[in-house]
Amino acid sequence: MGSVRMKDNAPVITIDGPSGTGKGTLCSRLSRWLGWNLLDSGALYRILALLGQRAGLPVTDADGVAALVRERFPEVQFTGTGADDPVSVSLDGVDVGARIRLEDCGNAASALAAHGVVRASILAWQRSFQRPPGLVTDGRDMGTVVFPDAELKIFLTANPRERAKRRYNQLSAKGIDVNLAELAEVIAERDRRDTRRRLSPLKPAADAVIVDTSGSGKDEVFARVTQIISNHSDLGLNI
Ligand code: C5P
Repeated sequence: MGSVRMKDNAPVITIDGPSGTGKGTLCSRLSRWLGWNLLDSGALYRILALLGQRAGLPVTDADGVAALVRERFPEVQFTGTGADDPVSVSLDGVDVGARIRLEDCGNAASALAAHGVVRASILAWQRSFQRPPGLVTDGRDMGTVVFPDAELKIFLTANPRERAKRRYNQLSAKGIDVNLAELAEVIAERDRRDTRRRLSPLKPAADAVIVDTSGSGKDEVFARVTQIISNHSDLGLNI
């Protein structure tokens, strides 16, 4: 598919929402469909959590973790697989995709993400992914803070029970042993922290299109969103 856009900056489509709404799979498929770059911002927070853990820093040491970004801005590459795995992520040439998706990294990422110094430390890094021909970006504050001028903003929602079940299925498929009730509680706690934090709380941008994915399979969600994209003249796409 070709782009006929004349603006200076590459166009951006932001996909925000809580975990378990299908953002990862959707972004991966969209980036392949459009032939655009992909940024999984949650993975950046998770990588920070892993770097902090490896450096022996507690999640309360926000300054220490933010300094790690400045010291060694790691070469991170996201590749949409189009399959259920949202992206493959490599750090220092080693694939850490599976490692960072474990719940300990998710929880540490969520704790670190509440600190302004940590959020500020990766702002430029996130924006550096905006390159031609375009960017599909997955996160919590992509449309509100990181790319407020994005051409199209989508906010995915789904009811909490279904989100916990999806996460459960994802982890079980990878052979990771989890308890559904405990997982639901961990997800609810992380949602509370992400929604109530003072800085960049999880909320839809005023101009976001809300897409409720409850009861919809991946193919249906992809079809609905590609329809929204096709109808969106701001993107200047030749579809
Ligand atoms: O999306 P994912 O579950 O990988 O994100 C892990 C954590 O990183 C989230 O719970 C959230 O606290 C944080 N995050 C964030 N802002 C983003 C993406 C993720 O605060 N744009």
